[in-house]
Amino acid sequence: CGIVGYIGPNEATPFLIEGLTKLEYRGYDSAGIAVFDGNRIKIEKSVGRLGILEKKIETHQPKGHIGIGHTRWATHGRPSDCNSHPHTDCSGKFVVVHNGIIENYLHLKEELLTKGHTFASETDTEVVAHLLEEHYDGNLESTVKKILTLIEGSYSLVFMSEDEPDKIICTKQDNPLVIGLGEGENFIASDIPAIISRTRKTYILSDGELAIVTKDSVWVMNRQGVPVTKKVFEVNWDAEAAEKGGYEHFMIKEIYEQPKAVRETMSSRLAKDDSSVLLDELKWNKHDLKAFKKIFIVACGTAYHAGVVGKYYIEKLARIPVEVDIASEFRYRSPLLDENNLTIVISQSGETSDTLAALKEAKRLGSRTLAVTNVVGSSIAREADNVIYTWAGPEIAVASTKAYTTQLVTMFMLAVYMADLKATVSPERSKELIKALRNLPGQLHEILEDVEPIKTFAQRYGFNEDVFFIGRSLDYAVALEGSLKLKEISYIHAEAYAAGELKHGTLALIIEGVPVIALATQSDVYEKTLSNIKEVKARDAVVIGLALKGDKQIEKYVDHTIYIPDTDQLLAPILAVIPLQLLAYYAAVTRGCDVDKPRNLAKSVTVE
Ligand code: G6P
Repeated sequence: CGIVGYIGPNEATPFLIEGLTKLEYRGYDSAGIAVFDGNRIKIEKSVGRLGILEKKIETHQPKGHIGIGHTRWATHGRPSDCNSHPHTDCSGKFVVVHNGIIENYLHLKEELLTKGHTFASETDTEVVAHLLEEHYDGNLESTVKKILTLIEGSYSLVFMSEDEPDKIICTKQDNPLVIGLGEGENFIASDIPAIISRTRKTYILSDGELAIVTKDSVWVMNRQGVPVTKKVFEVNWDAEAAEKGGYEHFMIKEIYEQPKAVRETMSSRLAKDDSSVLLDELKWNKHDLKAFKKIFIVACGTAYHAGVVGKYYIEKLARIPVEVDIASEFRYRSPLLDENNLTIVISQSGETSDTLAALKEAKRLGSRTLAVTNVVGSSIAREADNVIYTWAGPEIAVASTKAYTTQLVTMFMLAVYMADLKATVSPERSKELIKALRNLPGQLHEILEDVEPIKTFAQRYGFNEDVFFIGRSLDYAVALEGSLKLKEISYIHAEAYAAGELKHGTLALIIEGVPVIALATQSDVYEKTLSNIKEVKARDAVVIGLALKGDKQIEKYVDHTIYIPDTDQLLAPILAVIPLQLLAYYAAVTRGCDVDKPRNLAKSVTVE
């Protein structure tokens, strides 16, 4: 989502609309603004793209010198007028815009309902406005501090109150927020592109900081009220670079967003004591699960590769047989399915025609259906019986990165959830897995902190015409995705092979100097993988091994090693794919390819 705010001598609305235009790429389900007109706060909002809101207010633009605005990427609650931000309380005196997820909102909402609050939307954000009303002590600043002790989750939040119309208060936790410093006016935005036409002097807020913004001052403090001295950050990016958060391409920006995307997708779905996965969106019991004799996973492209990993997860943990299908093949092969089956479709966009058609076919045959998608209210989300959303945020680059890792996290949580219901894993094992899952964001961050070696490999091997990826079991599933990434953005011919299958034909292509990327993160097939590495090494291939930290043995058999942090082997794919995404990215940059918009490809394919 995108956030903007204005306080100063000028009309707020023109800036709010202009700022939101710059942020529309961050979400375009709906848009809204709230402006104080000297008497009351007026809210105007509308589902659909920003243009619809602009048209709506064309003849009666809200007038006033202080206002906030939002463009939404739906997470909790489908795109609709009432779910659009800004949100307000029963009295209409408080308004709030929010990016992120309030994890304990259901609990807070129940409490507020018992106190007589009534809600106009299905969002987690509206709870925050009602909390302000409930706890208001005549001082917005102290009330905000109070409610921040009640909410859990990730957020950037911006507040305004009718009773104190000389200030905007904002705060952040795990979501970006910047304050643009003007002359006698100040600006607030979730991202720099919204403000650079007005000022280049900014304060970048850190987690846990709170800012009181008036027209001629900005006070920053921590949540305890201790003042924080901020350095002015001078933005020298041009508008295009600003849109990419200072990164050269959307793809690399999205690669770096993965720790956050993964955290958002899982954190509200894990019990506090790590004892279980909470998938409240599925109202299944153990009898439902018993009824699923077989599961089909159907998807395209990267989402299909997430399905291949999902098969391993579900079979291994929940012990239900799974078939994975490419969507365009599935419906034409007369699949054998009926009400004893569950069909899971995975789709970032929720709009891929092949996947949608497969979903409809599964439904027609009587199968129960579940969608795993990133877009709330998308065609696939609407068509399926149940939906689990990946909360990766909008993905702009054609080559999928953060959608894939959040799909893996979702499939993993689903498998653990099913295994718990079926009692196919012990409570201890389940806890161990959830604990390992919780470590992922930090481990992803660790990988992303040191990308230089990968950059060097990409520069060194980026001009080769063929690259092979090999691995066994889950490593094979990741190899498929690594090779697709390389093909789609760097145009290098790449093939993924189950390491043990290589000798049945493709080994003929392994000659001196051919790069082979060998994944060896799976302990149960480790020795076998080493044998396959020896096979390619004996043909003078250049082997880059990808292994878990601490594995020194592999270094004896490969030319270079890339390490990922140690984790449960089931979760290794979520870490192992990162170096492969980076390798593809830097190879494409080395070759001068159009990374975000590779030739012949589209982000969402709506033809069969
Ligand atoms: C297109 C994209 C791929 C994507 C596939 C499936 O081909 O270029 O990156 O994986 O569609 O998209 P979906 O939105 O269904 O996940």
